[in-house]
Amino acid sequence: MSSGRILSVESSCDETAVAVVERGRRILASVVASQVQLHSATGGIVPEVAARAHLRWMIPVLDEARTRAGIEDWREVDAVAVTEGPGLAGSLLVGITMAKTLAWSTGLPLVPVNHLEGHIYAAWLLDPDEEEKPAPEFPLVALVVSGGHTFIVEMEDHLTYRLLGQTVDDAAGEAFDKVGRLLGLSYPGGPAIMKAAAGATAHDRRFPRAWMGESYDFSFSGLKTAARHKVAATLGLPAESRELDGSDLSESDVAELAWGFQESVVDVLSSKLLRAARELGARSIILGGGVAANAVLRDRIDEGARGLRLPLIVPRPGLCTDNAAMIGAAAYHRFLAGERGDRSLDARPSYKLAV
Ligand code: KG4
Ligand code: ZN
Repeated sequence: MSSGRILSVESSCDETAVAVVERGRRILASVVASQVQLHSATGGIVPEVAARAHLRWMIPVLDEARTRAGIEDWREVDAVAVTEGPGLAGSLLVGITMAKTLAWSTGLPLVPVNHLEGHIYAAWLLDPDEEEKPAPEFPLVALVVSGGHTFIVEMEDHLTYRLLGQTVDDAAGEAFDKVGRLLGLSYPGGPAIMKAAAGATAHDRRFPRAWMGESYDFSFSGLKTAARHKVAATLGLPAESRELDGSDLSESDVAELAWGFQESVVDVLSSKLLRAARELGARSIILGGGVAANAVLRDRIDEGARGLRLPLIVPRPGLCTDNAAMIGAAAYHRFLAGERGDRSLDARPSYKLAV
């Protein structure tokens, strides 16, 4: 008899993760080994360092997930799912090799998943002890905001994605990380900016907003330049100065600049997502990806969704950032649709979700 359980493996960037999810919703186990500390020394990810850390942690994480899910033998699950892309080639290959080996040695089917659809499907997940709740209703609009991607899609049904708009340059998370570095904050910039901004007492440092006309596209690279100019002006240095060092700023300047930057990103993201929901007659709204862990963004979209009387589904922060449970949730629908990977499965670093 089918158990509806899927073992899923995620290693596209800097988290080594394995999960067991039942029928695309109920998490039985979700284990994530984060490399954040490892990469904070370099202020960003060094691909080879990330790949080696995946190799080091993959098997302990897999064993921990099996124990937590109460599974004795992996043959108790229905399929092995894995992130095929997008992501860092060397990192993806570690997860893919693990998943292929498991599928081959157990005879289980292999189900490849797009990492970005995983971020959307995180909205379907239920924690082990969480009460049942209704699944998101179609048609829906989803905004995915991560370290590498920023886009809005419309979904009329499972696994169908229509791209409405995307960033033409930096991803929102990338902007948080770069501006965080300019302000002398710790890596990754997102959580550090959110924390610093909460301490701002004056709220008048306005950053520009790139509205990109009537489109659903985004642009965040101008914010980096704006931040550079504001930091320079605050320190009384020319913007092109090599001496520009955010750690010379006072705590209140950092807080006010962080607030102004965050406000600009939140304003553009929330306005476009809510407009898409209204214009397309969506029945629910999903927010996902690492930047969705931002409390100000969540609150702003929540407020707008309530105004539209639409349910907003945002996973808890730990399920917004990279994890394998979201891969297991998406994989269930691919599994039901009969999608299978074979032994030639390879990493797809630039895998697009929709065009
Ligand atoms: O989805 P994710 O874990 O990895 C990718 O697939 O990229 O996203 C990581 C990104 C980083 O850029 C990080 O700075 C950002 O998510 N992030 C946040 C917050 N927490 C993580 N950005 C803003 N506010 C946060 N609280
Ligand atoms: Zn991600």
